[in-house]
This record gives sequence, C-alpha cells and structure tokens, in this order.
Amino acid sequence: APQPTREDKFSFGLWTVGWQARDLFGEATRPVLAAVEAVHKLAELGAYGITFHDDDLVPPGSSPAERQRIIDEFKAALDETGLVVPMVTTNLFADPVFKDGGFTSNDRSVRRYALRKVMRNMDLAAELGAQIYVFWGGREGSEVDFAKDVRAALDRYREGIDLLAQYSIDKGYGMRFAIEPKPNEPRGDILLPSIGHALAFISELEHHEMVGINPETGHEQMASLNYTHGIAQALWQGKLFHIDLNGQKGPRYDQDLVFGYGDLLQAFSTVDLLENGAPGGGPTYDGDRHFDYKPLRTEDMSGVWESALANMELYLALRERARAFRADPEVQEALAAARVAELSEPTLEPGEGHEQLAADKTAFEDYDLEAARTQGYGYARIQRLALEHLVRMR
Ligand code: GCO
Ligand code: MN
Ligand code: MN
Ligand code: MN
Repeated sequence: APQPTREDKFSFGLWTVGWQARDLFGEATRPVLAAVEAVHKLAELGAYGITFHDDDLVPPGSSPAERQRIIDEFKAALDETGLVVPMVTTNLFADPVFKDGGFTSNDRSVRRYALRKVMRNMDLAAELGAQIYVFWGGREGSEVDFAKDVRAALDRYREGIDLLAQYSIDKGYGMRFAIEPKPNEPRGDILLPSIGHALAFISELEHHEMVGINPETGHEQMASLNYTHGIAQALWQGKLFHIDLNGQKGPRYDQDLVFGYGDLLQAFSTVDLLENGAPGGGPTYDGDRHFDYKPLRTEDMSGVWESALANMELYLALRERARAFRADPEVQEALAAARVAELSEPTLEPGEGHEQLAADKTAFEDYDLEAARTQGYGYARIQRLALEHLVRMR
C-alpha cells in the first residue's frame, strides 16, 4: 500500500480520532484520547497536520492555568513531531447555551457570547500558526419555520462573520475563513445547507475576498448532491479554501465514514479533480487534505488508527489511479472523441455579439438538427474506462 508522507498534506481533526463514540443511543465505547497522544500517533502514521475545536483541546470549564498547561503540552508535542496546525474551528454547538444557535440565536446575549468565544479561540489559532479558520454552523437553523426569521438570521450571520473578519484584519492574523455547509443534523434544517447557499451568502459579506468554503463530502451527499460538482464550482469561483473528506452512503443521517467508504466512484472523481483539475486542465486544489470522519463505534483504539490510515491510503491509491487514468492513451483518445476539450472553446467567435450570431444562418436556419439529434457523445466509453482503472482492470 502507498505510504503517506508529510508532502501529501494530510490532516485530521482531533475530534475525529478522539471521538469517544458517544451517540444518540449509547454511551462512549472508547476512553479519552489525550491531544498529545493524537499528535504523536498521527505524525507516526504520516499525517502533517492536526486541527481542533477550542473545546476538543481544552475541556470547557478548565481554569486559565489548566488551559495554559494543556496548550503548552500540546505545543511541545507539535515541536517534537513537526506536526502543524493548519486550521482551527470553534465549538458553537455542544454547550446547551447554543441550543438555538451561536451567531443566529434569537437571544442576542447568546450571539454576543458566541462571538467572544470565537475571538478567544482565534487568538489561540493565530498563536499556533493556523491560516484557515472554519465555521460550521451546526446549530444555526431551526425546526419551526414560524419561529425563525431566516432573513434576520442571515443578517446576524453576516454581522458575525464581518466582525470576526475585521478582528483578524485588525489583529494582523491574516486568516482566511472557510464556511462549512450541511443540510441538517443537529438542527432540523441548518442555514447555509449546501455549497451553493454558502457561496451565495459569501458574496454578501463585507470581506468576501477572505471567506471561502470548507465542503464536506458526506454533507453534500446527504442532500443527494454531487460533491465533485460542488467543489468544482468552488474552485471555479476561487473559493475552495479547505475540504472535509469523508464517506457517506446516500441520503441518511451524517455517517462521517472513512473517505471513499460510500460512493467510491465519486471519491475517485473527487481526487481526480483535486489532483488533476478539470479534464481540460483547470485549477487544482493546493490546500490540506483534511479528513473529518468518525471511527466506527465498534472499534477500540487500534481500530481508530487503522481507520485513520485507511483514509490516507485510499486517497493515495485513488491519486495513483487518477494519474494512470489520465496517462492512458486510450483514455486520452476517448476524451478527445467525446470532445471534452471543446467545452473550453467560447461559444461565440472573438468579438462576436448577438447581432453577428443572428446573422449566422449556419447556427440556426441552416443548422443540421438531424445530425446533432442523432449523434452519440461517447461518454459510456469514458465511464467504462474510468471504472476499469478504478478496479485495476487496467
Ligand atoms: C459534521 C461536521 C463537523 C464540523 C466540525 C468543524 O460532521 O457535522 O463536519 O464535524 O466539520 O465541527 O467545525
Ligand atoms: Mn466537517
Ligand atoms: Mn459530517
Ligand atoms: Mn464531522
């Protein structure tokens, strides 16, 4: 199997390998994982980064002295292993104070408290050198449509992100923000439920240039959306600042499976897009390959590390398969036959406007409709070749 290295830029949330597997129906099945141990173990496996929520690293209710001790030990482990902290985020969902949301609670005092909680953790993120700050608004939403003024909630969401962007600018932190969409869970309906909603929201922000998205594979798939298409649009808009890779079996509860455990074929096209860009050679993704998954509840710690490794190994295997796919002369020929590159040609001639188009009889009056209607596009062959590369028939 391929060996993960630092150059591959794999990172993991502390809350992923550290998940004690407490769920809606049962208690924890695993012990607390010390952050220091997670750092050592992830470095050993070949990861380069670790990320965290404020409350993963420092248990809520810790005294200032206790908080400092935990941070110092964590830093020492980072120094010892060379692991970095490329991204940090805030827990605005676990504490009951956030039961109606953080930035969009109907209670104004909760909103002010949420902003302060983020500001405090941004200071720590900056101290640790994090360049990306993620915003997942899991509790921003509602169950009762009549009780939440969505337009006002979006005003408050924007007010919150605008303030925190100003905070980063004024403090000289130079962070970039990444909003993570999710359709539902834990709220019945979450605000900014998809990549598209989040991108549209960002265009309304004061510092929109420093805000992008952190799309999670399973969250788009929970809504039956195509993750590869979603991140392609984010790349097109220059907004793919971070990614949460994982697996999901169709529209059901958020499974947070290992990357590729679910829609493997779509995981293949995701890796192909991230690594090779569009078929025509568009922008690729140069950020972290961050895994946000939950090790199965049935597992002890050895199963946790097994699954952490599985994420990285599968990514590397798909990367190798994507390279083989692109390098195959038969694939190149099939892509050419399907005129994949022709889509990159502008539809109009240089300088052509609607008047010239209207004067072009070959475009309409004399257009050979029958030929266009009866042609085959050759996509079936490309799909066959992609699958054959995926399962190593080639
Ligand atoms: C989920 C979310 C969360 C966020 C994380 C970062 O699975 O519902 O992905 O795990 O990514 O809390 O804020
Ligand atoms: Mn996530
Ligand atoms: Mn998830
Ligand atoms: Mn998650």
